[in-house]
Amino acid sequence: MECILKTYNLTKQYKDHRVVDNANITIEKGDIYGFLGENGAGKTTTMRMIMGLIKPTDGSIELFGEKVSEDTKQVFARVGSIIEFPGFYENLTAVENLDIHRKLMGVPGKNCIEESLKTVGLFDYRNRKTKDFSLGMKQRLGIARALLHNPEFLVLDEPTNGLDPMGIKEIRELILDLSQKRQITVLISSHILSEIQQLATKVGIIHKGKLLEEIDYQTLKKKNRHYIQLKVNNDREAVFMLEEKLNITDYIIPEPGIIKIYEKLTGTLNINRILIQNNVDVKEISLARDSLEDYFIGLIGGDINE
Ligand SMILES: Nc1ncnc2c1ncn2[C@@H]1O[C@H](COP(=O)(O)OP(=O)(O)O)[C@@H](O)[C@H]1O
Ligand SMILES: [Mg+2]
Repeated sequence: MECILKTYNLTKQYKDHRVVDNANITIEKGDIYGFLGENGAGKTTTMRMIMGLIKPTDGSIELFGEKVSEDTKQVFARVGSIIEFPGFYENLTAVENLDIHRKLMGVPGKNCIEESLKTVGLFDYRNRKTKDFSLGMKQRLGIARALLHNPEFLVLDEPTNGLDPMGIKEIRELILDLSQKRQITVLISSHILSEIQQLATKVGIIHKGKLLEEIDYQTLKKKNRHYIQLKVNNDREAVFMLEEKLNITDYIIPEPGIIKIYEKLTGTLNINRILIQNNVDVKEISLARDSLEDYFIGLIGGDINE
């Protein structure tokens, strides 16, 4: 798989505060990489380093397999970004704003403006001044601007921040579209797990500057599996019976007396009957779901909002 971004022990220190601490991020072609962390975790700082806006204190960055340095800045021509909130000239129209950026980026021809506006669904508003744009429209215009030079890699810092559920959905659909139809690789940050979860093919969790874990798609899916939870007096006897009589093998015993069964989710009645017939007391039987949220909270030690 082609590597789009790799960071090696990426570190940023302000005075004695390590804001980003030895982060090793790997993003492959086609990924929608969800960069998840609370406010202040270090997401924006990491993205600013990736985009060459600030210098790392330590460590290095590879974009498209090439180490980023003063001499290799042309690699940024392949990247589009919105870091922090996208600012526009309020008294200029969408087209005028994009045209300023187009000239700055040295993109020939004005076709890209129309195209980008169509992509983000703002073509009908092209001649409106951006001061009349809603927050969601501004975010989309920000993405249009990031797309002008036809980048292969898009870096979006909390593009859904402050949006209502409808606006969030629009951004999500837009990003999925860019990923699927245009094969753009995406790095998107958020402090809201559910947003990332619905979109990402890989999630990197950052906490207090440390990249705690990168979770791939397969693992992500597993972390959200439904299961039947049993509370029993004798878990050994219970799982013996489940295997023996019902052929159930996909289960775990997370703690004594608790069994989580990940298969035959419609078979609760059967399970109950077999266990009772074999003298296992079933104190509780319920359908539940592993959540990435529990896992996330477990990872960062429960100190959300500290
Ligand atoms: N220029 C700076 N000087 C000092 N501290 C900074 C600077 N920029 C960011 N920080 C600190 O770094 C931490 C991480 O900030 P940031 O990367 O913006 O987090 P996030 O984007 O995850 O909310 C915060 O504690 C912030 O106060
Ligand atoms: Mg931020």
